[in-house]
Amino acid sequence: MNVFHSKDALKTFLALAIQGNNSIGFVPTMGAIHQGHLALMEQAINENQLVVVSIFVNPTQFNNNEDLEKYPRTLERDLTIIGQLSPQIIVYAPSVDDIYQGTTVAERFEYDGLENEMEGANRPGHFDGVGTVVKKLFEIVQPQKAYFGEKDFQQLQIIRKMVEKNNMNVEIIGCPIFREENGLAMSSRNERLSDKAKQKAAFIYETLLEAQKLFQRTTLSDVILFVTSSFQNMPDFTLEYFIIADEESLESATKKELGRKYRGFIVVHIEEVRLIDNIAFN
Ligand code: PAJ
Repeated sequence: MNVFHSKDALKTFLALAIQGNNSIGFVPTMGAIHQGHLALMEQAINENQLVVVSIFVNPTQFNNNEDLEKYPRTLERDLTIIGQLSPQIIVYAPSVDDIYQGTTVAERFEYDGLENEMEGANRPGHFDGVGTVVKKLFEIVQPQKAYFGEKDFQQLQIIRKMVEKNNMNVEIIGCPIFREENGLAMSSRNERLSDKAKQKAAFIYETLLEAQKLFQRTTLSDVILFVTSSFQNMPDFTLEYFIIADEESLESATKKELGRKYRGFIVVHIEEVRLIDNIAFN
């Protein structure tokens, strides 16, 4: 497998590998690769001649140093797993310096307010960090298509907005949430849960599915009431938020309007692990 730690070496390789109208599909990750990441890579393999996966724990998108330091770094294992999926995948695993060249700061971005909702409200500057690194990675890899998971739906919409506002020449592809058999959304954080908690966490998706059904026949406030009271009855869970928001603006909605698409967004804590999920309602 071709693994690069320097952007110059990667660029030289790609310049030679691109022949005719070969297209590059790109999957940015922070490593600790799991099935959810692999599903994105599979889609990229099916739709492109060349696939680049980046593995980079991006310091500018973390709000505190402890989180950044605690983030799992498992490069050898990641490379083995990716190689098993396809040895053709090209991996870019840079150092902080290769990306930031001594100035590890985020650029400021304007995402028409998307950055102030949900995850943005709780993590100031987070989406500046995400935009900064994704923009840098796009410049290095120059993909035709880039793949992002609906698991981080707000991030997906923010990347779309960045591409649109800056006229970037890349198609953003949103990929469905890949789940454990019991419905729990795949995440590197799931590893920190006990087996018992993993089983119990199936309740999150079950509740989202119930909420999706309810959405068809009742008001938004009734759906919200249903979800919040469901979690009040579950002592192991702490519900951080459940919001129904418009898919485009991500603004929390109070009533249904014709022609709009809505999603339920949830953050739940169990065993001090923060789990995030969402579901399309219509
Ligand atoms: P990371 O959390 O490693 O996720 C990389 C990509 O995998 C993201 O697009 C994320 O939405 C997707 N993903 C994670 N779990 C998934 C699941 N269960 N189903 C489908 N897709 C899933 O997101 C980041 O890294 C970073 O913010 C990054 C975009 C790489 C910028 O640093």
